[in-house]
Amino acid sequence: MQADPVDRPRILVLASGSGTNLQALIEATRERDFPGDIVAVGSNRPQAFALERAAQAGIETFTVDHTRYDSREAFDAALRMEMERYQPDLVVLAGFMRILTEEFVRAFQGRMLNVHPSLLPRYRGLNTHQRALDAGDEVHGVSIHFVTEDLDGGPVIAQAEVPVQPDDTAETLAERVQTQEHVLYPIVIRWFCEGRLQLAGNDSILFDGTPVPDVLTLPAA
Ligand code: GAR
Repeated sequence: MQADPVDRPRILVLASGSGTNLQALIEATRERDFPGDIVAVGSNRPQAFALERAAQAGIETFTVDHTRYDSREAFDAALRMEMERYQPDLVVLAGFMRILTEEFVRAFQGRMLNVHPSLLPRYRGLNTHQRALDAGDEVHGVSIHFVTEDLDGGPVIAQAEVPVQPDDTAETLAERVQTQEHVLYPIVIRWFCEGRLQLAGNDSILFDGTPVPDVLTLPAA
């Protein structure tokens, strides 16, 4: 059954770059039974291609350019003001490359998700693909997690594994991880919009009201 339009979760996406994850979500929301709507896309970079993708899809966009703010606090406050105009039920970080202040994170606690290109808790932060190669990992992948004040440390909802090939470079590995991101992130966002996912406290997840003992993992494709 289609959700009543007034009950449909309002999704706001933040992106800094190319926006391939945004594109995957735009396509998912075009499915007739998708239970939420992207109401706006925001960026800290005026030139982000993600803004172009949103405009092409008829979605409202806004930019809060971080280079115009003296402090992280001032930038986050300005960003939050823009975001609140759209009354989001869910904030989706899709390659949003800014460290967020604790105050900002608290304001969206329990309704902000992130995609991170590693099998967390391995490789928080940047250059995850090169770090997986340097460590000789045989399996790498992607995690979708709730955002908490602990950077890249919020509880992981789901992961998809990607086998590392002997001749992989950071670029080839990133490409295959991204393919999995585009599958996994819309699935998790759908669960959230269906009301199936909840952050419990700061470190655990309820799925259909029941604590999830393990991360949900899609096996290596
Ligand atoms: C994605 O691969 C995502 O995992 C990564 O940025 C990329 C954005 O690509 N996110 C992070 O590194 C977060 N720390 P996209 O703009 O094409 O969606």
